[in-house]
Amino acid sequence: MGVTEELEYDESMISLLEAVWGKGFMSPGGADEVDRVLGNKDLSQARVLDIGSGIGGAAVHIALTRQPSSITGIDIEENLVDLATALAEKNNVSAICDFQWVETGPLPFDPGSFDIVFSKDSIIHIADKFALANDVHRLLSSGGWFLASDWLCGYEGEPSPQMQAYIDAEGLDFGLASAEVYQRAFEAAGFVDIELEERNAWYRTQARVERDNLAGPLYDELLSRVGGDFLSREIDVWDKMIAVLDSGEHRPTLLRARKKL
Ligand SMILES: C[S@@+](CC[C@H](N)C(=O)[O-])C[C@H]1O[C@@H](n2cnc3c(N)ncnc32)[C@H](O)[C@@H]1O
Repeated sequence: MGVTEELEYDESMISLLEAVWGKGFMSPGGADEVDRVLGNKDLSQARVLDIGSGIGGAAVHIALTRQPSSITGIDIEENLVDLATALAEKNNVSAICDFQWVETGPLPFDPGSFDIVFSKDSIIHIADKFALANDVHRLLSSGGWFLASDWLCGYEGEPSPQMQAYIDAEGLDFGLASAEVYQRAFEAAGFVDIELEERNAWYRTQARVERDNLAGPLYDELLSRVGGDFLSREIDVWDKMIAVLDSGEHRPTLLRARKKL
């Protein structure tokens, strides 16, 4: 999986992402997009796993709105686990919502431990989609759902120079794969009812709003917290991201798949 040792999501990055995407969120769309991922699936009394729970916004939202029996968020960055735990406490959901630090690699839970495996824009960091799909399938109970959002790519093989420039500017450990790769990985793991819902058109518009907020209303407040150099770099990341959203190489996508009964 090759996640680097240093923090990918440090304090400045978290401040900026929360300013753009909302308290507790390190990915686009906030609670509305989480609801879209989950759709009308019934989570009441379900045991839920959130892979790559970040600073906890999605898991806390699920705990507050979907009556799961439990939701466990896992992340490889300890500072994020601490922030997520504090968010759950602040929202009085710690009794059902906890966060654990994990190492990269197979997920440390017994087969059938969860009824729903959720993930929001985190499995991009896990390069081997076949191993991931097998692992999620193993953790699910019969009939359980994998409900996720992720950033996919619209090409096979090497990225274009424009896409490579965006990936380099992000500086994050991305393991991008196409919709075809996800589809094959889910099928190979034994999933059924596989659905992939393209979100490129929505995010292409939304990313422009985010970029204009960063350069406009959010700029002065963020300047004192993260500094001008960081802010300029991130505005440049957004510009490069908008270019590859427009070209279709960057494809945010919702993924849903069910383990057979
Ligand atoms: C873009 S953030 C999204 C966080 C959160 N899901 C949200 O939507 O706000 C990606 C998260 O995935 C975590 N991550 C990266 N590699 C991981 C892995 N192998 N296992 C679990 N989490 C991972 C990162 O530390 C980070 O918190």
